[in-house]
Amino acid sequence: MCGIIGIVSKEPFTSKEPLSRLKKLEYRGYDSWGYWNGKQLTKKMGKIVVYDDGTDVNLAICHTRWATHGGVTEWNAHPHRAGKVTIVHNGIIENYAELREELKKKGATFASETDSEVIAHLVEQGVNEKRGMETILKGLLATLKGTFATLIMVDGDDKLYAAKRDSPLALGICKSRMILASDIYAFSDATDKAIFFENDEYAVLTADSYAFFGADGQPIKKTPKTFAWTTVAESKDSYDHFMRKEIDEEPVVCQRLIVSLQGEQHDKFEQLVGLIRKAKKTVFTAAGTAYHASLLGASFLHQQGINAQAIIASEFENFITVDRETVVIAVSQSGETMDVIEAVKYSKEKGATIASIVNVPYSTIERMSSLSLQILAGPEVAVASTKAFTNQSTVMLALAQAFGYANGLEQLPEKLTETLQLEPKLERLAKELHHHRDLYVLGRKLGYPVSREIALKIKEISYIHAEGMMGGELKHGTIALIEEGTPVVSLVYDDDPKMRSSTQEVKARGAHAVVIGSTEHDELRVPAESEAEFAILASTVGQLFAYHLAKERGLPIDKPRNLAKSCTVL
Ligand code: G6P
Repeated sequence: MCGIIGIVSKEPFTSKEPLSRLKKLEYRGYDSWGYWNGKQLTKKMGKIVVYDDGTDVNLAICHTRWATHGGVTEWNAHPHRAGKVTIVHNGIIENYAELREELKKKGATFASETDSEVIAHLVEQGVNEKRGMETILKGLLATLKGTFATLIMVDGDDKLYAAKRDSPLALGICKSRMILASDIYAFSDATDKAIFFENDEYAVLTADSYAFFGADGQPIKKTPKTFAWTTVAESKDSYDHFMRKEIDEEPVVCQRLIVSLQGEQHDKFEQLVGLIRKAKKTVFTAAGTAYHASLLGASFLHQQGINAQAIIASEFENFITVDRETVVIAVSQSGETMDVIEAVKYSKEKGATIASIVNVPYSTIERMSSLSLQILAGPEVAVASTKAFTNQSTVMLALAQAFGYANGLEQLPEKLTETLQLEPKLERLAKELHHHRDLYVLGRKLGYPVSREIALKIKEISYIHAEGMMGGELKHGTIALIEEGTPVVSLVYDDDPKMRSSTQEVKARGAHAVVIGSTEHDELRVPAESEAEFAILASTVGQLFAYHLAKERGLPIDKPRNLAKSCTVL
């Protein structure tokens, strides 16, 4: 994944500016980071420390890493240098091994185990051979296989260079300053004008000019887009964690979305309904949490007689056939998940119509779609997705409603507020259960996607092994793992007899059974009047439960180990 920043400016700046911008990209990876200001190279392990080195410069690049090739070490952290050349890179260079061998034969010495370092050496080779930078960049696009957003500085040169394929890269245009970043989060406080790099483009930047070129070396005219995006929530306010704050925001952002779907986004929403109505097949595709919201969407539509499915993006090609009569709906908080982008590309090639449901505006997936709805959850900082899931599911609910599924959408924000009142009970439960190594979550029908979502949340932040599964599948294997005291959470809407039986079956084997239900006698009762409402409200209960399990275990809730919020690698 990784996040990159580059600044070229008329007014001098110190390390504080690029590093505070980099900090906003930390959700993209946070195992190590580094900074180059043309004079000094800093590389550190762990999370970014924003400091002021007091050294005025006009040009700098920096990087926050999510390791792919080469362990988490200082020497593998970016920037990488070769001779006079310094680079940062987000993506994966697929042909790095052969390039590395060729470069070594020509005398290059490598200081890291990364795939990225070949970029530095390739550029250095060109510089030594006195080829101009534009020729070098054109050559780079031809030579590199794989994905990249890369920024390049050359000692003694006051320009900043950039090239991109598949990994995201945006240029923020400020007064006498250009800021390159993995997304607009990083500069939305400084400008509302941006240019988005498309694939196989490179650019040459000075403080007050930009020139873009295509893979053939021909100049490309690019017009800045004006964007509206609230700045990143930088403060947790009185909360201990962003995740907890974001759960509390659910009623408000859900309300905002409902209003928008009936107002500002109404036409687009109706167009999406029209596309689904016309298509022979509707296929949602997504990863992680967004996939669980997609499963809900597919099930809602399916119940209304629509031919709808949800397919995990990373396995898309292997499990579905799409064609001109298919509408593919990509669901993604970040709009940058590479698995989803690949599924969209594939679907486009097959002639399918592409729609999307995203949170981050102007993201790659939004730009790849013919029609895109925004979930308006606002910036989500915690890696574990909460309010975005609720709003993705709210769009699904609205779609279901448009096809005749009566579900009390308007009351959802109020009911979310009520659901949050269960927190003290969940806190107590987490105190009791946080020592366990394994935990199971059972659901049927709409409860099944929710069981998977709750289990994912628990895994992500509490590191407890949690399995979310169909209640009916329990007896086909997993029940062998139930022992005295094993925690099993059952999602039981309206006393569903089958779910009650599954709960009894695990109790009979000594499980510590916990029920999230909708009736008066349920200890953890959500105020749901339809199964669909139950699904969304029970997910919020699961988020709070996961949060308190992780808190009891003293873990870094907002930035769990090995994860990144935006997965821009395959
Ligand atoms: C990563 C995150 C998950 C997220 C998934 C999909 O794996 O850690 O929390 O659900 O990506 O992200 P997206 O931005 O496409 O919704």
